[in-house]
Amino acid sequence: MNDENLKLEDLLSAKSANEESDRIEYVAIIGAGLMGQGIAQTISSSGLDVLIIEQSEDIIKSAELALKKTMEREIARWAMTNSEMKSILSRIQWSTDLNLVAECDLVIEAIEENLEKKQNLFGQLGSIIKEECILVSNTSTLSLTKIAEATERRDNIIGVHFLNPVPKIPLVELVKGYETSEKTVEIMKCFAKVIGKTAVEVFEFPGFVTTRAIVPLLNEAMHILLEGIASAKDIDTAMKLGYNFQNGPLELADQMGLDRVLDWMENLWNALGEPRYRPCPILRKLVRERKLGLKTGEGFYKYGADGKIITEEIKQVIK
Ligand code: NAI
Repeated sequence: MNDENLKLEDLLSAKSANEESDRIEYVAIIGAGLMGQGIAQTISSSGLDVLIIEQSEDIIKSAELALKKTMEREIARWAMTNSEMKSILSRIQWSTDLNLVAECDLVIEAIEENLEKKQNLFGQLGSIIKEECILVSNTSTLSLTKIAEATERRDNIIGVHFLNPVPKIPLVELVKGYETSEKTVEIMKCFAKVIGKTAVEVFEFPGFVTTRAIVPLLNEAMHILLEGIASAKDIDTAMKLGYNFQNGPLELADQMGLDRVLDWMENLWNALGEPRYRPCPILRKLVRERKLGLKTGEGFYKYGADGKIITEEIKQVIK
């Protein structure tokens, strides 16, 4: 095949991926935690309708409130208008009924980082979704191929790794499972553009790029704290001013959720066996005490109702 034919083929496949991605108008998100809320806000801001599925009405109530509060904070700093918030919320529907995803063109899973739970969910979804629906996992460390094993629709399954806070981070990692089709990849590349994200393609490997690179840094910062070399605030200040980071590693871990950070370290430690992923005892202790960071009001720092740090740090992390 000559170069001209190749270009024509590329153009035709890009055109058809664009058309397919235009077909995506109704998106389901399973799990309304930190990531589910951010993904919903982002997709709804692009003008698409969103359905969020959660486990109980109580969780839905608190997730709805949390999402509204996040946007109100944006309004308070003039980064969003009240009418923008209203129109974003008006396009989001909430339910505990998984069967409603039968109407959706795309389903994004954002539940806990646990292979068994994700496989169970994908198994259920396989018998509910319509033929052309694309299934996405937001996993940070698990194998897409293993998640896909739970369903027959393996060519339609892809990893799209959004990062927190989703509305502000302009990147997604696109992760192909063993049987993910090129068509699915191309459609999701176009979809990423539609929702304002730059997509990078990564090979399926535990932690992809972003999680694999950040986790050892977070772990090392926790060890520096554990060894009493510097306070949490000074570790964060050193990394922010020293390397021009927007957030210090301990604040960042608190924002991500310490339970999720622990899941990632354990998964990477189990999958790769590298000591740099073995979770620091401070992290285990905080998670045991349900001090999960910003989402519970306490982690390496304590937070006020407005999400701002109110005390410098936990002084005695190891008893
Ligand atoms: P989270 O714990 O804040 O939220 C998970 C939510 O899923 C909970 O509200 C839970 O009730 C819900 N859930 C669990 N099983 C469900 C089911 N069967 N049906 C409906 N809802 C269900 O977790 P988070 O932090 O939002 O993480 C979700 C996923 O996103 C994980 O795979 C994580 O690795 C990934 N991720 C997390 C990032 C972070 O910074 N926290 C960044 C990038 C990816």
